[in-house]
Amino acid sequence: MKTVLILLLLTLIIASCSQQGDNTKQLQARIDSLQQKLNNTYRPGLGEFMLGIQEHHAKLWFAGINKNWALADFEVHEIGETVDDIKQYCMDRPEVKSIGTIDPGIAAINNAIKQKDVDQFKKGFVELTSNCNTCHKNNQHGFNVIIIPNGLPVENQNFKPGN
Ligand code: HEC
Repeated sequence: MKTVLILLLLTLIIASCSQQGDNTKQLQARIDSLQQKLNNTYRPGLGEFMLGIQEHHAKLWFAGINKNWALADFEVHEIGETVDDIKQYCMDRPEVKSIGTIDPGIAAINNAIKQKDVDQFKKGFVELTSNCNTCHKNNQHGFNVIIIPNGLPVENQNFKPGN
């Protein structure tokens, strides 16, 4: 009777172990398929983030020279947010290590906006633009030259203050 009980217990233990093995396999398969889905999720690339920064850079200029400080503040923050996204989503790009090149220009612009000083803003903007180009040059993208905008980036937005 004792032997039968022990055998029964052993059978139960073995059955439960192999059941656990099956569960682990199922979980691993689920993890693998989720990982694959995650790898295939769409994420904007560095070039796409840069296109966004380019647009904000141009709008920032017209906001600043028109003394629309609220809009200038918004645009410079949009650049900052995009830089944060680049740090989060583009770490696989070695160039991103030098993204901090942009910091002095952003700080100068922020300061000018606080002071509501157009001359300081223009100087800050020249510095920011030169920061963009320094990073491009240092990362084999020197052919990508950013300048102070010659014309409005869009025609459906009012850059003047007081709206
Ligand atoms: C990491 C340093 C770095 C900084 C700082 C930087 N860029 Fe770039 N930028 C790059 C790299 C690298 C590329 C190439 C991306 C790619 O491979 O698509 C690029 C590409 C671009 C492009 C080309 C996008 C296209 O598809 O036409 C534009 C426009 C651009 N940057 C604008 C700017 C502006 C404006 C600033 C400053 C406000 C700036 N960048 C600051 C590194 C930088």
